[in-house]
Amino acid sequence: MSERVVVTVSPEETRAFARSLGEQLDKPLTIWLSGPLGAGKTCFAQGVAAGLGVPPDEPVVSPSYTLMNLYQGRLPLYHFDYYRLSHPDELDDLGGDEFIEDGGVSVVEWADRFDRCAGYGGGARAGVHIELKIVAASRREIVCRACGTDAEVLLSRLFAA
Ligand SMILES: Nc1ncnc2c1ncn2[C@@H]1O[C@H](COP(=O)(O)OP(=O)(O)OP(=O)(O)O)[C@@H](O)[C@H]1O
Ligand SMILES: [Mg+2]
Repeated sequence: MSERVVVTVSPEETRAFARSLGEQLDKPLTIWLSGPLGAGKTCFAQGVAAGLGVPPDEPVVSPSYTLMNLYQGRLPLYHFDYYRLSHPDELDDLGGDEFIEDGGVSVVEWADRFDRCAGYGGGARAGVHIELKIVAASRREIVCRACGTDAEVLLSRLFAA
């Protein structure tokens, strides 16, 4: 799997990069976000939402009382946070993976929390895998990997732009 790395030095820069990814989205796809607490996963989700045209007056925050928040942009945006899951079966109650294949863009924080949910074994599940690494207080290394043709095309367009 090819790997592309971007370094950002502020949350605004992370949001801007994620926004340019969001702007390229024109079909259903899943964005799998991993990285430690405070790495910038929610920040990244906010950027994707902006790029998808979710109105700025709709605050994008991690789902706290639900497992998923739905936003309406050019495509529906499903925002999951697997940190809230205590067991992967909870996803089944929600309709589980079906959301993830269904007509919209899904952004999943803590994608690597459960192997079963994430199919994470090295990013085996189709979509764009984003790993955020904290390298200094305000510096993040963002590793982007594509799994599948749609994701590969998207990243190629993004990095050509
Ligand atoms: N380059 C950067 N990119 C993103 N966030 C940054 C950067 N530099 C500093 N930060 C700070 O790191 C924090 C990232 O918070 P955010 O909620 O997006 O992380 P998270 O990965 O979603 O955390 P959690 O695991 O709690 O969900 C914010 O406080 C932000 O200001
Ligand atoms: Mg978060």
